[in-house]
Amino acid sequence: MPQELLLTGLREGIYTITLNRPEKLNALNRQLIAGLGRVMEEVYRRPDIRAVLITGAGEKAFAAGADIAELASLDVEAATALARSVQQDVFDKIENCPKPVVAAVNGYALGGGCELAMACHFRTAAETARFGQPEAGLGLIPGYGGTQRLTRLAGKGRAMEMMMSGGMIDAATAERWGLVNHIYPPGQLLDASLRLLEKIRDNAPPALGRIIGLVNAASLGDAGGFDREIAAFGACFGTPEMQEGTRAFLEKRKPKFDGGER
Ligand code: COA
Repeated sequence: MPQELLLTGLREGIYTITLNRPEKLNALNRQLIAGLGRVMEEVYRRPDIRAVLITGAGEKAFAAGADIAELASLDVEAATALARSVQQDVFDKIENCPKPVVAAVNGYALGGGCELAMACHFRTAAETARFGQPEAGLGLIPGYGGTQRLTRLAGKGRAMEMMMSGGMIDAATAERWGLVNHIYPPGQLLDASLRLLEKIRDNAPPALGRIIGLVNAASLGDAGGFDREIAAFGACFGTPEMQEGTRAFLEKRKPKFDGGER
């Protein structure tokens, strides 16, 4: 039986997706990427999924990039189509997902692996994690959104240096540069990230979806962001979650949100 390239598991509303090709440092081949696209469709569709954690199998890598053996045989048209499809069918779907998606970076996040982590809403990392965009050393550039997302996250100078040098940065530098929100000892990364997601999961799903959409718009420099925020703020007042959230506060109890998309 072929090895499953993605492992998934749902526990109390949190869906964990594990990239599972550890013998190749979880390099993103076509099959793995297509599977990730299908799994993300499931995330959108299933109301029982409230939040998502993406991580890599093994201790060494989150993902060491696109599969270089596959890239080697592509021509201009095929490479253009690949980049378009990975960006639009998979990574954009992660970034625009109305449910929180967090990457727990457990080791190398290089090339497409770093781009995948950056498509997530935010990142946690093991102390041993390493980030890099080594494509220029292969005669390539990042093609899965890296030039855009890294510049937005880390700023122009740092993005330029990282992509021009192809060098790796460690987890502490990634945290300082804004790529990573929290760093944990390797053995604690998953549990600590899940605890963070549990807190997020317990908040109102329609509010979380609106926050994601508005912050994404801001990071794209959407000039209409303030107006969209006004409209989205108002729309919250038409949701049962707002009724429940405010009533629970006044009744001095914890709110209970049923979940599901609205
Ligand atoms: N694509 C395909 N295979 C990859 C890969 C990638 N991006 N990254 C690692 N692998 C494979 C290696 O070929 C090796 O396979 P093998 O055992 O069949 O020879 C296996 O994963 C283990 O990698 P290895 O290089 O032996 O591990 P290492 O600890 O010596 O080095 C790295 C780790 C991350 C420094 C090194 O694997 C590397 O530089 N990978 C490529 C990173 C990259 O350029 N990514 C961007 C791609 S566009």
